[in-house]
Amino acid sequence: MLQPFTRVLDLGTGDIAPENRLVRRRLSDMRGAYAEDCDGAQVVYEVFNIDVPETNSELQTCTTRLYNGKVGDEYFMTKGHFHEVRDRSEVYLTTSGYGRLVMATEDGRYAIEEMRPGSMNYIPGGWSHRSVNVADEPLVFFAAYIGDSGHDYGSIEERGFPVLVVEGPSGPEVVPNPRYQS
Ligand code: PA5
Ligand code: NI
Repeated sequence: MLQPFTRVLDLGTGDIAPENRLVRRRLSDMRGAYAEDCDGAQVVYEVFNIDVPETNSELQTCTTRLYNGKVGDEYFMTKGHFHEVRDRSEVYLTTSGYGRLVMATEDGRYAIEEMRPGSMNYIPGGWSHRSVNVADEPLVFFAAYIGDSGHDYGSIEERGFPVLVVEGPSGPEVVPNPRYQS
């Protein structure tokens, strides 16, 4: 049985104290995610994880700090994934910034939800998910998901998402992804 514990989250930056396991994704880690080539050491996002056993009796929690920026007309975004155990659900709580949460099923349905301070997005089992920062400041959100969910990035790398969020003349637009493998 785990010992109860407390961590402190900075709602503005996403930092969690005390120190946690950090995953940092750079443009060079995002190759293939965008229509345009991207490379280099610029950090796109960071995930601060609170480690607990990866079982279905525990909840994994983490925060993501997704920086603002673009590759071509596509905003900075997370890689996106299905959960390895497909029916595992997840909740996001945005604490700072503005974004879109793009979700899709394996049979090609999609849904887009807004992310803004206070938004609680529910991601049901079976839906892949990717966050997109549409503003000029970092997007920060807290996530909680069932401990044994796992991350399947390969399906997204192979197929992409059915839609993209791009910058249009009057702000963010959702457009079909020409590279989506249905
Ligand atoms: O659990 C989640 O869905 C999030 O914490 C993501 O893992 C995080 O936002 C980073 O995205 P990705 O895992 O798709 O790189
Ligand atoms: Ni997830």
